[in-house]
Formats: sequence, structure tokens, C-alpha cells
Amino acid sequence: MSNKVRLCPVADVKEGEPVGVFLEHFPALAVYYVSGDIYVTDNMCTHGNAMLTDGYQDGGIIECPFHGGSFDIVTGAAKAFPCQVPIKTYTVAIDEGWVWIDKPGEPS
Ligand code: FES
Repeated sequence: MSNKVRLCPVADVKEGEPVGVFLEHFPALAVYYVSGDIYVTDNMCTHGNAMLTDGYQDGGIIECPFHGGSFDIVTGAAKAFPCQVPIKTYTVAIDEGWVWIDKPGEPS
């Protein structure tokens, strides 16, 4: 796991309650639980200055709290207007009960 960075305990992430994580060298991140799996995306909406963790998760969709736009949590695809630019997603690893992603510039 030396090329990875630890985000938060898996147990902290509940379906419908995404967790915001702030790490050095990363944009704000959002961690989600969807149907038994953990996913990580950027937290900042691509349409404006809103944190998706303040929005509303419905299964695999996260709706922005500002203008009703939404994203697919798994693929990052924009799903509802006015969001058009996909949200960045990260490759997730689970180890020792924690959520991890790759360090910047060090893909697994
Ligand atoms: Fe997210 Fe506008 S800021 S939909």
C-alpha cells in the first residue's frame, strides 16, 4: 500500500451518507457506499462551487445540493442538467478496514 493514500475507515461510509475527505495534494474527495462497494470521486461539483457530500445520494447517483444536477457515482458521468462535465473518479482499494486510493502520479 506504499503507493496508496488512506482516506477513511470503511465503517464510516454508509449508503446515502457520503463522507468528505480532505488530503494534502488532492482536491476535496467524496467517499460513497453503493450496494456493497466503496467509490471515490472529487467532491466539488463540476458545475459550480458545491460539495457533493452536501447533496443527496440515491443509490448510485449523487445529486448536487445547488442546481439539481447529478452524477453517476461509479462512472463519474454527468446524469442531469446543468451538470455536463463528468466528475473525476478514483480507483479504490480496501485494506485493513480502510479506504485507499492511489497517490498522485502513482497509478497502481
Ligand atoms: Fe452543482 Fe450547479 S453547482 S449543479
